[in-house]
Amino acid sequence: MAGRTQAELYARIDSELSWSESELPERERTKHVHRLHPYLGKYPPQLVEVLLRRRFAPGALIYDPFAGSGTTLVEATVLGMHAIGCDVSAFNCLLCEVKASPPDVAAAESELARALAMPPVDEPTTKWLERWYAPGARAELAGFRRALEGSPQRPVLSIVLSRAARSARRVPHHALDEARTPVLEPYWCHKHRRTCRPVEEAARFLRRYAADTVRRLAEYAALRKDVAVSVLHADARDVDLPDGIDGVVTSPPYPGLIDYHEQHRYAYELLGLEDRRALELGAAAEGTTRRAVAAYCDGIVEVLAHTRRHLAPGGGVAIVVNDRRELYDDIARRAGLRLESRIARHVNRRTGRRAGEYFEEVLWLRPARSRAAAAAR
Ligand SMILES: C[S@@+](CC[C@H](N)C(=O)[O-])C[C@H]1O[C@@H](n2cnc3c(N)ncnc32)[C@H](O)[C@@H]1O
Repeated sequence: MAGRTQAELYARIDSELSWSESELPERERTKHVHRLHPYLGKYPPQLVEVLLRRRFAPGALIYDPFAGSGTTLVEATVLGMHAIGCDVSAFNCLLCEVKASPPDVAAAESELARALAMPPVDEPTTKWLERWYAPGARAELAGFRRALEGSPQRPVLSIVLSRAARSARRVPHHALDEARTPVLEPYWCHKHRRTCRPVEEAARFLRRYAADTVRRLAEYAALRKDVAVSVLHADARDVDLPDGIDGVVTSPPYPGLIDYHEQHRYAYELLGLEDRRALELGAAAEGTTRRAVAAYCDGIVEVLAHTRRHLAPGGGVAIVVNDRRELYDDIARRAGLRLESRIARHVNRRTGRRAGEYFEEVLWLRPARSRAAAAAR
């Protein structure tokens, strides 16, 4: 950690935002719709809940310019707040829409049953799908996909299809997020501690995730308040926003870390989603050269300055970030925002592989009243 020492971070730890594994086990972090689909790089809903409760009241309008898997949107709707989310990735927007819209559980259940009854089809496919799926798995996914056409529950069906497709890839069980080449032969599985065979079918995943989705949507339906949500598939630098945003709670991408399009490649291939990876800020493919980091900072400044212009009087911004390059003081100043507080939270590491001290910070920002803000206007 450059600059900021561990002792300094410890001194600013907010214990209400730091949980041990036993205080906040995985099943809590992935409650109801938060586990509708895996997504690398989300923050825990409990963190968002505390941040929203601290500063905003039911009826507030909350915005997340980097909505990702929709954690902010879901938590806002449960607390009776209206929500707007923006993301440049089409798949993330689809996921946000399914997670945060008012669910029609009965319709989802019957449409999923119809999709599960579709026979497998052997149809022309893409090179990528051919490489990553056994023929049987591909045909089962293609059969289910036929049910999407004209379905009133198309988004829900698409998410179940995508989740099953993720599990049915020819990847080792222990490397669902990291595999670079398909496995075609039996392999030693570090997860199950035995020899496993490459996946050859998708039907059992489709069945399992269809049932799980219905259960999770029903749980969420009982908690969700009657509020408005909109999901905008756009670049947060120039997305069309309404005025009167009361608060922002977000976790931005960070330079060179996560590839937000490629991690869901199967969904783009199967659903024919539009690829806008060229607009990703801090894209993994750009790396962390000085030039890439400077472009990242310029991009985040644009997003925050654009967002600031749509804040209601008294509105505030919470940014959750591991700012190890210490970029955010300058980003905030350039975006016309003033740093009100910088608190730290101790992030629990779940596995030995990524063990070690890890901190995130929550930056609370408000529009600056200074000349710098006027200049950034
Ligand atoms: C750290 S993730 C957000 C995760 C989110 N807090 C959650 O819990 O799921 C950052 C998100 O920013 C999105 N993103 C990157 N560049 C963007 C841009 N120019 N406009 C809008 N979204 C962008 C990525 O697609 C990614 O989903």
